[in-house]
Amino acid sequence: MSMMKYEISWDKPEAPSRLPDNEIHIWKSSLDVQEKKMAELSKILSPDEIERAGRFHFDRDKRRFIAGRGMLREILARYIDKKSEDIKFTYTSRGKPQIDDGAEAGRISFSLSHSHELVLYAFTRDHPIGVDVERARSIEDVEGLARRFFSEREYRLVNASSGAKKQEMFFTIWTIKEAYLKATGEGLSGLEDIEVSLSPDGVPLELISAGRPGLMKQWEIDSFSPADDYFAAVVSANRTNVTKRFFDAERLLLPFVRGGDVNPPPL
Ligand SMILES: CC(C)(COP(=O)(O)OP(=O)(O)OC[C@H]1O[C@@H](n2cnc3c(N)ncnc32)[C@H](O)[C@@H]1OP(=O)(O)O)[C@@H](O)C(=O)NCCC(=O)NCCS
Repeated sequence: MSMMKYEISWDKPEAPSRLPDNEIHIWKSSLDVQEKKMAELSKILSPDEIERAGRFHFDRDKRRFIAGRGMLREILARYIDKKSEDIKFTYTSRGKPQIDDGAEAGRISFSLSHSHELVLYAFTRDHPIGVDVERARSIEDVEGLARRFFSEREYRLVNASSGAKKQEMFFTIWTIKEAYLKATGEGLSGLEDIEVSLSPDGVPLELISAGRPGLMKQWEIDSFSPADDYFAAVVSANRTNVTKRFFDAERLLLPFVRGGDVNPPPL
């Protein structure tokens, strides 16, 4: 297993987008899109997604859910020969979404994660992948959460650091665990089985599990900051010769986010 912690250079997406077998694509975008784009995105959602959107109490959460699913469909449609509105998802018993297609489209694995206004997507072919993003400023009692959810060793690492470093330790561990649990699809049920070890200065070293020997060889972990105040991790099957590419969807959507007003190119 390898772990990386680095600064990312986010590229402008190409058209048409291709997802070669040996690539992992990670996309980021704001979820706070303008009215016109929102209207477009809500049209491509499936009836069950619209129904889910309707269950959100706050309008902002509803809009972000629509934007997150709508953009997921638009990005997937760039990779596969389908219209965004024709893509069908199925869900595992633990809620992991997958593309419902036995053929070409079914080979794409994906994961998405949102926190406040930011969404991250990860895509690859034939191998499991998970992504998690968290906004650091949103959680105050970092130490209490670490005591509750982390192993003794992880908790001690968080507790031994202070200020910004404490947050960094916490979110580095948190996002890696979540991304792993999203890659496997097991959700929170597997939380206590896995542990992330970090060097004293916060560099992730390995993913370990007493109950799962060989775990560290099976997974590759990328830990990074996708934007100020945000921490993220991508966990993917460990393979040789894989290229990771990072795309900023806002560079397509720019006029639609945060108050732009000119006509955008289609995503
Ligand atoms: C659902 C869960 C997989 C992630 O949830 P989350 O961190 O709250 O939210 P994220 O935005 O990162 O992920 C949500 C997405 O995960 C996907 N997802 C849901 N269940 C999933 C599963 N079992 N496996 C993989 N992905 C899943 C969905 O695509 C969802 O997006 P949607 O809102 O468009 O449906 C799960 O880990 C959870 O409930 N976490 C709660 C937080 C917690 O207690 N974490 C302790 C970590 S140390």
